[in-house]
Amino acid sequence: MKILKAPTKEEAARLAADLFEDVIRENPNCVLGLATGSSPVPLYQELIAREKAGKIDFSAVRSANLDEYKGLAPDHPQSYRYFMQENLFDHISIRPENTIVPDGLAKDGEVMCAAYEEKIRAWGGIDLQLLGIGHDGHIGFNEPDTHFPRFTHETALLEITRRANQRFFSSLDEVPRAAYTMGVGTVMAARRIVMVANGEDKAEILKKSFCGPVTPEVPASILQFHPDFTLVCDEAAAKLL
Ligand code: GLP
Repeated sequence: MKILKAPTKEEAARLAADLFEDVIRENPNCVLGLATGSSPVPLYQELIAREKAGKIDFSAVRSANLDEYKGLAPDHPQSYRYFMQENLFDHISIRPENTIVPDGLAKDGEVMCAAYEEKIRAWGGIDLQLLGIGHDGHIGFNEPDTHFPRFTHETALLEITRRANQRFFSSLDEVPRAAYTMGVGTVMAARRIVMVANGEDKAEILKKSFCGPVTPEVPASILQFHPDFTLVCDEAAAKLL
């Protein structure tokens, strides 16, 4: 794995954006795996600015998001589809039909998850997967477990994750208890992976994930085995590495 440290999260975002720029230039209709949370926001702002400056072109890019809350409609302000529209898609030239996010309202979750995997396969797989990391080491919504889930699936959210995400909802009760997420196998199949992590509160979990044993109890630890994995972080998050 490669670690890129930057003094600030804005500088870290520029380093991550360079990787995106390379992949999009190499293959204008590449498939990006995208993520939500606060960590990717500076990167998305940088990507928007670079398209405006004519440095990259999203018009042929395809994207598949990592996860979605079960039970939230795409127009719910806390849904991940809504987040992606607000923070990226509405500001770049990507075509709506070229963006997929798991359907939080799917009538049959298993069918939807299988179709999601199939779509990614039909697109030729993910060229560059973006990740954040939860305080318990989750990637997407793959929570600590006894095994690494392979494919896109429904998952129950742990209390620590619901509490961390409560800041976006008006009460803990409103935070969904389940979500749909790409599996760890879906993520690991990406050709390249980049994780963005900022702030002192991520320092401990980064150390556990990348300086400790590979275990499903720390889902992100499996990234140690990926052949092309880059961690981009600010000084505060990197302080225990
Ligand atoms: C959510 C998302 C994850 C994300 C994590 C960390 O739970 N499902 O994909 O990595 O939050 O979010 P943040 O970047 O806000 O710390």
